[in-house]
Amino acid sequence: MTAPERKIAIYPGSFDPLTNGHLDVIRRAQEIFDHVIVGVLHNPSKKKPLFSPEERISIIGECFQDPLVEVDSARIEVETFDGLLVEYARMKKAVAIIRGMRALSDFDNEFQMALMNRKLNRDVQSVFLMTGLRWIFTSSSIIKEVARFGGDISDMVPETVERRVKEKFARTVT
Ligand code: PNS
Repeated sequence: MTAPERKIAIYPGSFDPLTNGHLDVIRRAQEIFDHVIVGVLHNPSKKKPLFSPEERISIIGECFQDPLVEVDSARIEVETFDGLLVEYARMKKAVAIIRGMRALSDFDNEFQMALMNRKLNRDVQSVFLMTGLRWIFTSSSIIKEVARFGGDISDMVPETVERRVKEKFARTVT
């Protein structure tokens, strides 16, 4: 008898920066899948991100090593990807694409992307995981907005992210 295949899921996104909402989705995904690949989109055409893809990879990797973050670091990896998500999923032998769903406002865009991804590759399923209620209003963009003006983001991001965001804004003239 052959060993059962590991069920691999891709969790794609910009992660600029990683938030507690993202971590909540990752923990839920780890309950369902054997292995989760966090795919950080490397998109040179996207408007100027706060962190480079390399910085985001290093921040996420650092967070995963933090025991307080409570992810199973042996069953997770993080890397950048570019091009079509479904091609990346195919290359990684992923059976699912994970997306977090917060409020109804996420739905339109997510539905459109999922339908397009299914049209492009019928072998990979889109799986939507609801974030915990306390993260419904958390997004990378709102965190950047608050931090840019010196607001407190400590309960919305892991400690590593809070530190790196503060360092970044201390160096960036806005
Ligand atoms: O965190 P984000 O920015 O909402 O993530 C968006 C992401 C990375 C999932 C999406 O932009 C994406 O999949 N980009 C890769 C290019 C692609 O495959 N586009 C077609 C999907 S409709």
